[in-house]
This record gives sequence, C-alpha cells and structure tokens, in this order.
Amino acid sequence: MNPFLKDPRFAGIEPFEKKVWLASPTMHGDEQRWVDEAIQTNWVSTVGANINEVEKQVAAYVGVKHAVALSCGTAALHLATKLAGEKLYGQARPNQGTLQGHRVFCSDMTFDASINPVAYEDGEAVFIDTEPQTWNMSPEALRKAFELYPEVRLIVVAHLYGTPGRMAEIRAIAEEHGALIVEDAAESLGAKYRLNGQWMETGTLGNYNCISFNGNKIITGSAGGMFLTDSEEDANKVRKWSTQSREAAPWYQHEEVGYNYRMSNIIAGIVRGQLPYLDEHIAQKKAIYERYKAGLADLPVKMNPFDEVNAQPNFWLSCLLIDEDAMAPQVRGEQDYLYASVPGKSSPSEILDALAAFNAEGRPIWKPMHMQPIYRTNPFVTVEGNGRGRTNAYIAGSGQDIGADIFRRGLCLSSDNKMTPEQQDIVIEIIHRCFK
Ligand SMILES: Cc1ncc(COP(=O)(O)O)c(C=O)c1O
Repeated sequence: MNPFLKDPRFAGIEPFEKKVWLASPTMHGDEQRWVDEAIQTNWVSTVGANINEVEKQVAAYVGVKHAVALSCGTAALHLATKLAGEKLYGQARPNQGTLQGHRVFCSDMTFDASINPVAYEDGEAVFIDTEPQTWNMSPEALRKAFELYPEVRLIVVAHLYGTPGRMAEIRAIAEEHGALIVEDAAESLGAKYRLNGQWMETGTLGNYNCISFNGNKIITGSAGGMFLTDSEEDANKVRKWSTQSREAAPWYQHEEVGYNYRMSNIIAGIVRGQLPYLDEHIAQKKAIYERYKAGLADLPVKMNPFDEVNAQPNFWLSCLLIDEDAMAPQVRGEQDYLYASVPGKSSPSEILDALAAFNAEGRPIWKPMHMQPIYRTNPFVTVEGNGRGRTNAYIAGSGQDIGADIFRRGLCLSSDNKMTPEQQDIVIEIIHRCFK
C-alpha cells in the first residue's frame, strides 16, 4: 500500500477514481467534423482546407500576417532558429548548421525543445538565468551576458507556463545590440502582453515566432505547431523548407536542405475544431489558478507570479513555490530523490508523491537547461555575471541561481481544465495535509 494512504495526516481522503491530470486534451466535438470532412474529401495529406483555414484563423487571432502550419512546435522552432541563423550568418553548407561557431542567448528555465534547435544548427547555447517576477529570462542577466559576449546576435526566449516574460526590456536590449529574437510561445498561446501601451499576443513579440499544438497545450491538434510572422518572405521560406525544399522544376530539384515538417490536414482538422474554444480554455485555466491562489493563501507558498499590469497569462499551468523557511529537507540526484517529512514544512517531492498517491498529476518545475547533463558545460549567465564557478572555498559569495532555486522549491499543480472545483478542493486539501 502506498505509504501516503495510511499516513494519519491524510486520514479521510480517498484517491480519485479517475486520474486528475496536469493538462490533458479537451475535445468539443467540432474536431471530429473537420477530420471526417478531410477523410471524406480525400485531403489526407499535408495540403487541404483545414490547413489553410487554421493558418488564416491563427494569423487573425494573434495578429500576424502569416502563419505557417507545421508538424510540431519543435519543427517551428527549428526553422525559426535556422532562419535567424541564415539571416545573421548566411546560408550554410548542407552538412553544417547556420549557427556553427556562434553563441546564442537562451531562456534557461524552459522545455528543452525551445533551445535544442540551437544545437541542431551547430550553435552554442548560453543560458540566461531566470527572474523571480515572471519565472522567465532575466533582462538583467541578459545585459550581463552582452557584457561577457558582445558578439552574440540571437536570443531565444520562452514564456514559461503561459506567463509572458519581460519582453519590453528584452526587446530593448536586443535592439541595442542589433540582436534578433526567436520567440517560443509554445506554452502561451492566447497570453497577452502590453508593449508600449498596446496589448499584443505572445507569438508576435519576436522576429521569428512559434506556437505548439502538442497534446498538453491550451488547445491541441494531438500534435502540430506554427511559425508566425509578418514577413511574407520568411513565411514562404519556412513553407519551402518544411516541404523538402523543392525548387521550381518539373523534377525534384534541391538547392537547400529540406525537411518534412508540414502539418497534416488531419491534425489541422483537430486544431480547427479547437480554435473556437481557445478563449474558453483560458478562462477555465484562469479560474483554476485563482482557486489555487485563494485555497493555498493560508500556506507558506506563493503561486507562479506574473506582471499584473502588463501581462495577461493564459494560465496554462498553475504552480506553487514553497517559502524558504517552510522547505523540508529534499535532495535530488540526477534521476532519484529523497526527502524528509517535517511538521509544518514540506517539499515539492513530498507534495508530488502525495498527489500521485491520490491519483492526481503534478510535475516538478522544468529543470533548468544549465543543470541538464547535456548542457552542463555550456555557459550560464546570472545577474552577477558568469554563473559557472560562482563559489569559492576560501571566500564567501552568493552563487545566486534563481532557476535552480525555483526548481528546488517549486512544482506544477494539476491544471486540467476538466478538473471540477470539488476535485481541485481535494488537491488543495492534500497540499495542506503535506504541511501538517
Ligand atoms: C516551451 C516549449 N517549447 C517547445 C515545445 C515543443 O512543442 P512540440 O511538442 O509541439 O514540438 C514545448 C512543448 O512541447 C514547450 O513547452
């Protein structure tokens, strides 16, 4: 028997019969109609009315001139990054990436799909520490990074958990240094940000912008993603690259490396059915966030923060951060963990185990990229400068690392928009019992 189920702290709580998910797909019925139509009309391919329609609708929703439908957000990020590399450094040979020999400043606390394309293109990611106000790229650390690496011309920035980052400052710094921005809005479709007094959608704030329709996102196609831009030339280039880079010739003729990254018309049918419900999903996620905020207000925890004046998140995931003095001991190895239960305190590991015992899904905060084994030797910059080797056995120093701290003290809560208020209240109660 799971030890939490016989722990007297949790007496009276029964496991959920049906799992309460972190974020699962929410279908409405219209999806089936557009998928069926694609099959009935035999547009079972990477061309068809669903693709044309979702490109039109998403472009209109976010306010860009062109949306290019692709197989996934990762594909969009790859082609966006490649486009930026080619713009900055020219066309690469077929066996080389466009970023070879170049560094790129990257969000540190994000999913690795944001920044792996830098490696696909042979560049070196320099990770920029996170700020506590929105849990996104720190503009202050970005400034430091330009002091250390003034030659850098590309920034890849993500909006974590649907909360817009401090884009006004990041854009201003980029402009100062003649740098381009790849914006990863995979988690933040529908989130809004006030730039120079004007509300804009995330996915329109960089030079090259990407969204995702992965199964766990605010709306989904089961898979899928998009490249968003105002530039017709860039949209055409991404369309060409995504369909194997065919030249205008009667046969297969290629002058550039190609990819099979185009969205399928079946996937587009699901996205087409979901799009009318985007705002409804955001409203549900916002209600979940607010219910957690109220329900957890008496505990030594904070919700994932956002700029209440200049940002309207899509509230994709609700998260909490345990106050330092309420943290019970917790140790994490590379693939395992240990923690102790202490009255009045808890830890992300304990809360996640408790939620799992009662059949609710949570997740650790995305482990920062600079802590990942694969990127462990890449540069990392904090507000203090070089983030590697910050401590000294002989001299006291701060060794400040905001991303590592949020990873240590934070966790993602069940945020499924089909979770009922009653189920959420039980999740909230389980968290309370962890602090008993
Ligand atoms: C921040 C971020 N970027 C990129 C991706 C990749 O998108 P996809 O799964 O559609 O390839 C995801 C999620 O999957 C993500 O969360």
